[in-house]
Amino acid sequence: MRNRNNFIFASLMAAGIAVALGSIAVVAATPAETIKQRQALMKELGGNMKAMYGFTQGQGGETVADIAKRAEVMKGLAAQIPGLFPPGTSRYVAKSSAKPEIWENWAAFEAAANSLADQAGKMAEVAAGGDNAAIATQFEQLGSIGCGGCHSKFREK
Ligand code: HEC
Repeated sequence: MRNRNNFIFASLMAAGIAVALGSIAVVAATPAETIKQRQALMKELGGNMKAMYGFTQGQGGETVADIAKRAEVMKGLAAQIPGLFPPGTSRYVAKSSAKPEIWENWAAFEAAANSLADQAGKMAEVAAGGDNAAIATQFEQLGSIGCGGCHSKFREK
């Protein structure tokens, strides 16, 4: 009897988890909507990179504190990338540049997202240091390793 109660309890727990997961699935919505969401996230990354580039070119308007803050935002965005690439959202499903290789090499794709988070984290540290030359060097790394490391393999040109 006790075992049976445990079983019922475990089933209820599992159902609770399923309901919780179900509500996440509702947020994710259709493939086309998910693709729009991730493209918007990518554009946000691009906007931050543009502002950082302006800083490295001495265009003014941004302080090192602003750059550090942008880097932190980018780190947070990087963490959201894998969740916006559920299976069934490649460029063969809807208007997207996402290569099927993403789901064939999921671990590498996640690693590429982590790598962006690492590079953005480094940028936050370097910017906090306030050395403009070091910021410019880290900006190059952020672009080539952080963004390019993923685009070169997983984004259709
Ligand atoms: C882990 C992989 C990954 C990382 C890291 C990544 N991207 Fe992307 N990016 C993609 C993929 C895949 C697409 C294509 C998405 C689609 O069309 O569905 C894309 C698309 C884009 C687009 C086009 C969005 C649109 O409107 O179609 C821009 C802009 C972009 N990325 C900028 C960046 C920048 C800037 C960085 C670095 C700061 C970056 N991305 C880092 C994978 C990545």
